[in-house]
Amino acid sequence: MKTKITWCLAIISIMILSACSDSETLKGDTEVQPAVQASTVNYQQKVNQDVKRFREFFASKFPNIELEEFVNGAYAIDAATREQWLEIEEFPPYEIPVEEGQEFFEAPFANGKTYADCFENGGIGIRQNFPYFDEKTNQVITLELAINQCREANGEQPLDYGQGELASISAYMANESRDNVFDIKVNSEAAYKAYMAGKQFFYSKRGQLNFACADCHLKISGSLLRADILSPAIGHPTGMPVYRSNWGELGTIGHRYRECNKNVRAEPLDYQSESYRNLEFYQTVMSNGLVVNGPSSRK
Ligand code: HEC
Repeated sequence: MKTKITWCLAIISIMILSACSDSETLKGDTEVQPAVQASTVNYQQKVNQDVKRFREFFASKFPNIELEEFVNGAYAIDAATREQWLEIEEFPPYEIPVEEGQEFFEAPFANGKTYADCFENGGIGIRQNFPYFDEKTNQVITLELAINQCREANGEQPLDYGQGELASISAYMANESRDNVFDIKVNSEAAYKAYMAGKQFFYSKRGQLNFACADCHLKISGSLLRADILSPAIGHPTGMPVYRSNWGELGTIGHRYRECNKNVRAEPLDYQSESYRNLEFYQTVMSNGLVVNGPSSRK
């Protein structure tokens, strides 16, 4: 009961905070205009404009923080918790899951093939290419979805998406891709639609508390919500999957999305639902130019 009351108080205080600032101007266009002459529309250029404005927003909100720092979530902007986090990172809690992830990754399926057979470059150093828009199947493919597609193509059962074996494999693949730069492309009308759906999701109010992702992670990012500093949305996907002390294990970005939906008393969507994949696509495009630094740890 007590935690419920403190949570409500925290929400009320951030409602007051968010009423004082406005991200509507940044939201801009969330409707896809019908393309009259699709071939002449430069979707990448439109998207790059969004990326520019998104960066400018955070650069002016946190003028002392370098762009590259935003890969570190709340620790980019909060000196006090950053110290504790740097100590945690000396003996990172994700080290064992990464080793296990490598074992899972290298273990052959019943048919003798391995994950390496499904991915470009044997799956090494490719984390920054996900999620991407697949023009053939007309959908966003996340790394986690691709891992399970690989299993199914080889006659294996898919793994659970949130935590456990799949998160460890994803962590190993991220670890092998550290410092590679995200440069997710949006260069077709279909890709742009998926991107816009993700953008719409990010800015839409939801749940009994009527909060958008943008309220917490853009407008009032840097504020304290209960014991947490709200991380800026720029760089959100770079350090995934993440080991959270209160989870006691690694979780994928989908796991985080579900938790953030539940926090505002919204019904969480299924892992890898189209909406979450579009959201991850949008969030990763907004982090283009930043490096892969996953897996990471959070207190
Ligand atoms: C009521 C406020 C609130 C809303 C709304 C909210 N979140 Fe969060 N979110 C949090 C808190 C608190 C945390 C944990 C502290 C942190 O890392 O920001 C968090 C963490 C995250 C993280 C992990 C960041 C990291 O560095 O590990 C991601 C990604 C994220 N949220 C995405 C979203 C998305 C996408 C939405 C919209 C679907 C959303 N959140 C809506 C409060 C919120």
